[in-house]
Amino acid sequence: MSEGSGPHLSVTDSRSGETAELAITDGTIRATDLLGLKDPESGSGLRSYDPAFMNTAACRSAVTYLDGEAGVLQYRGYPIEQLAEHSTYLEVAYLLIHGELPTPDQLSNWTHEVTTHTFVHENLKSFIQGFRYDAHPMGMLLASVGALSTFYPDAIEIHDQEIRRSHVVRLISKMPTLAAFAYRHNRGMPYVYPDNDLSYPGNFLSMVYKIAELKYQPDPRLERALDVLFILHADHEQNCSTSAVRAVGSSQVDPYSAVAAGVAALYGPLHGGANEAVLRMLRRIGSKDRVADFIDGVKAGNERLMGFGHRVYKNYDPRAKIIKKACDDVFEVTGVSPLLEIAVELEKIALEDDYFISRKLYPNVDFYSGLIYESLGMPAEMFPVMFAIPRTSGWIAQWLEMVDDPEQKIARPRQIYTGQRDLNYAPIDAR
Ligand code: SDX
Repeated sequence: MSEGSGPHLSVTDSRSGETAELAITDGTIRATDLLGLKDPESGSGLRSYDPAFMNTAACRSAVTYLDGEAGVLQYRGYPIEQLAEHSTYLEVAYLLIHGELPTPDQLSNWTHEVTTHTFVHENLKSFIQGFRYDAHPMGMLLASVGALSTFYPDAIEIHDQEIRRSHVVRLISKMPTLAAFAYRHNRGMPYVYPDNDLSYPGNFLSMVYKIAELKYQPDPRLERALDVLFILHADHEQNCSTSAVRAVGSSQVDPYSAVAAGVAALYGPLHGGANEAVLRMLRRIGSKDRVADFIDGVKAGNERLMGFGHRVYKNYDPRAKIIKKACDDVFEVTGVSPLLEIAVELEKIALEDDYFISRKLYPNVDFYSGLIYESLGMPAEMFPVMFAIPRTSGWIAQWLEMVDDPEQKIARPRQIYTGQRDLNYAPIDAR
């Protein structure tokens, strides 16, 4: 309840005539303050109901700031446009996790630590080789990240700063390796070990594309485009997969298991799986002159325009703008994707159509990213994996914040019970 005369909500419960003053802090009321309003019959306190958390703040966080109406995204206060222009993914990962941009020495040490932990235990290769050749790489990544926890039993010591840091570094270092191993498994090709002479994105390209050459030389334009994509996908406030990492991590499980939960949530087509769904949608449309019919089908409710819409952004996703520009850089090397004109036509028609305007549906991060991944030669099923690699730093930053937050405890929401009560067991011959 509100103690002082600060901003508050004065409410009267018509069931009991009771009144209460609910303190308003940071634009929110505390749900537990509602408990003081009792149901006169049952005596139980009032509870808030918010399926899918449409209007619920689950934590305080200083990691990422979003303004959905204005289309603003900032990591630790730095606008995403500036980071995409001037930074690198590894520097952004340091920023998200440590809360500030690194000094030259800090960046050099961080880069050395991440670069020298890129190898995984040989048994993880055998683990991945146990999958069918056509296993979805997100399923393989989900399983192998979880399996990593069994190789580092001390990772459960989540309050030991040194132990915790070693696993933070390992997660960021090993995600590209596991992702590339999954890709090579799908292709029936030998796995390529990390090349620690290369940059973070360059090493990933090497582990994916190296064939018989002694040393893979990434094209610097593709290396930079991938680094920008990694920056843009690094964190995004309390999205579905981050909420999963926080909820699972709140049981004080190790960070590998918590991140595996994030991979699982990201896998879904409404979340990180949307970039794969966008490419399949563009291929299904097939040509620019069939876009109008497709849009009619979406408006009729037959399906969703994948890569459009967002729970928070009710404006153009700032990341989509940057990715659209990055497409040009990549197409300079690879040639323009034939699907680009279909995507551009879809965006043009949708942004002029009241169905999308009235619902504030704009292109999100997933709408154009797949065109880049496809031009890099990635199969569509690898697109969500390309999302999971950089989002690992955001998941870790949010997990660390949750572990150290004195207000947090094990996540355990309540429910409105709608089932039957107090039934008597009937023997099977009496049913
Ligand atoms: C990501 O949360 C994050 O930050 C996520 C993310 C991150 O970085 O972590 O940004 C990454 O997941 C981006 C979103 C990728 N998903 C897609 O592109 C899938 C297609 N988009 C949607 O399914 C949808 O827009 C969501 C899931 C993104 C958001 O869904 P909401 O907020 O729950 O909105 P909703 O489903 O309640 O839709 C509101 C209305 C509905 O119409 P009505 O029932 O009112 O008539 O808008 C319609 C929906 O039918 N709608 C769409 C649509 N998205 C919403 N109609 C057509 N096409 C769409 N894409």
